[in-house]
Amino acid sequence: MPIPVTVVSEPSKSAVRIRRAVPDDAAAIVSVLAIVAAERVHSAIDRVWTVEQERSYLELLSPREVIYVAVNERSEIVGLQILDRWSSLESMAHVGQVGTFLLPAQRGRGVGHQLWNATASFAREAGYRKLAIQVRGTNTRALAFYRGIGFRECGRLTRQVVIDGKEDDEVLMELFV
Ligand SMILES: CC(C)(COP(=O)(O)OP(=O)(O)OC[C@H]1O[C@@H](n2cnc3c(N)ncnc32)[C@H](O)[C@@H]1OP(=O)(O)O)[C@@H](O)C(=O)NCCC(=O)NCCS
Repeated sequence: MPIPVTVVSEPSKSAVRIRRAVPDDAAAIVSVLAIVAAERVHSAIDRVWTVEQERSYLELLSPREVIYVAVNERSEIVGLQILDRWSSLESMAHVGQVGTFLLPAQRGRGVGHQLWNATASFAREAGYRKLAIQVRGTNTRALAFYRGIGFRECGRLTRQVVIDGKEDDEVLMELFV
């Protein structure tokens, strides 16, 4: 009797490339952020800022701050990862904060890890000694993603986010570079 073969369908690996964002990417970045914010469940961002605000943010990034974007074969931005300073205080100049936003179709294909490879090496070069993030308590995929790249949970702000009347915690995570 033939042995039954189970075919497991896996999401295809990504074919994106990673590059540094420039001010002209502002509109595409805002449009990715708007799609993630509209999902309402992943981020504390409930309303996205304007293209002009994003452009000026990009223009004013210090040499120690960066956005990496993931672009597809048509050169469209399909995801991004931000690294900027946690605080403008000199006492916290060694601490960076990270945020990652992928379009729905790009999730679970390794794009987050591709972005992280670029961000982690930038963070080391830029002299950060630790990175910190806040992740919504219900965002199990993001918690798993950040754990997987070495972040550990170090605190919880209870009922910190309210979006559309629904409360959520913010989990604090940190990583020593
Ligand atoms: C969170 C995010 C950045 C992760 O990037 P990604 O490329 O999709 O990461 P992956 O799904 O490939 O991997 C994340 C890990 O979570 C696991 N995972 C995947 N889907 C999951 C799910 N639904 N629930 C729990 N864990 C999940 C994977 O197994 C993987 O673990 P591994 O590295 O040990 O294999 C991306 O999904 C995203 O942008 N989501 C929407 C926005 C968001 O939540 N941003 C974070 C705000 S703090």
